[in-house]
Amino acid sequence: MLDEERNRTLMEVGADKPMGKLLRRYWHPIAAASEFDTKNTKPIRLLGENLVMYKDLSGKYGVLDRHCPHRRADLSYGYVEEDGLRCNYHGWLFGKDGKCLAQPYEDVEDPSGKLRNTIQIKHYKVEEKAGLLWVYMGPEPAPLVPNYEPFFWQNGFTQIVFTEIPCNWFQCQENSIDPVHFEWMHSNWSIRLGGSTGPYIPTHIKVDFDEIDQGFVYRRIRADTSDQHPLWTIGRVCLWPYCLFTGGHFEWRVPVDDNTTMSVGWFFNKVPKEREPYVQNSIPHWYSPLVDEKTGRWINTHVMNQDFIAWVGQGTHADRTQEHLGKSDKGIAMIRRRFFDDMERIERGEDPKAIMRDPKANERIQLPIVGLDAFRNGLTSKELENAGGEERLASKKFIFQSGQPEEVKVAYEDAMGFKMTDR
Ligand code: FES
Ligand SMILES: [Fe+2]
Repeated sequence: MLDEERNRTLMEVGADKPMGKLLRRYWHPIAAASEFDTKNTKPIRLLGENLVMYKDLSGKYGVLDRHCPHRRADLSYGYVEEDGLRCNYHGWLFGKDGKCLAQPYEDVEDPSGKLRNTIQIKHYKVEEKAGLLWVYMGPEPAPLVPNYEPFFWQNGFTQIVFTEIPCNWFQCQENSIDPVHFEWMHSNWSIRLGGSTGPYIPTHIKVDFDEIDQGFVYRRIRADTSDQHPLWTIGRVCLWPYCLFTGGHFEWRVPVDDNTTMSVGWFFNKVPKEREPYVQNSIPHWYSPLVDEKTGRWINTHVMNQDFIAWVGQGTHADRTQEHLGKSDKGIAMIRRRFFDDMERIERGEDPKAIMRDPKANERIQLPIVGLDAFRNGLTSKELENAGGEERLASKKFIFQSGQPEEVKVAYEDAMGFKMTDR
């Protein structure tokens, strides 16, 4: 349980708030590079700021304030030039450093550019990595965008999935350090949704949590497993500052503002060994729906959709003054403490947790991964067939989010060499 002030402190992401300052020390994966195959600008909202991301004609990305400093037109309707983004109202042109490069009419009247030289628009760094576009909104010097090992895996099919969730980011991230919910929210609820009343899966008999450089790890033993099971010896990662990492996929909970979170999923499937070498030229992205059109209720058929139901069900802002934490919530208490401590570190001028500044350490960041060898070296079709576990290496069904588009399904099947089961 937290008092109201501490609860608010965890949730508020504005630039003048302690958590807003903390989060501005990290890179945020808020768009997919493949979005810019078909458009040049994308309106984005991040940490409560309205921005526009663009890719100019020479292929450079930029992130600028959404509104033109002339008379406030929406720059996401602007058009890109060889260098920079031009406002579609009166043609002012801006570079990625926020400088005004042209003011067509004013430049005729005053070629010395007196007004132009006074203009400096808000701008942020953007970097492409793993098919994602990452934005940094904090003080210089900016840290490095993390090079997690899965970003280097070969012979795989990757897809990026977005869903905007109408609630605060912090309750989404608390779900990343919550082992017991798998049993009830995913396994047992799915049994019930399937029309059966049981039997339920073996229950959790032990959970534990550890802090690591890149976040926290949770570990579990269920009634049917022992302390030799990889979910106890290795575990799953609550990746800093707001991601769940399971091995085959990342789920970032990107704070859009105090009331909204962008779920950004990055899903990797290794192709069977017989299909190697496989090179994916572009990583597809898609937007997954949240609401069942027929019933007007949240979609509950997929794993992450079930998570979303938990998050939005806690209210736009979870009221932690009313909660009752138990033993299974030890990890939740640990991550809150880390965030509170790190907000103090920022005040002391220190880096918070998991800021990467050493290029050597960032060459390939190793994370705890169940089934690591299979991700690195692959499996034959036969081995894939027999692969067990809650998240199979190569699923024949995209179990994580609803609404996978047909063209992504087809591209996946082409890569894997087999048909999915849910078509
Ligand atoms: S409002 Fe953008 S150029 Fe006038
Ligand atoms: Fe979950």
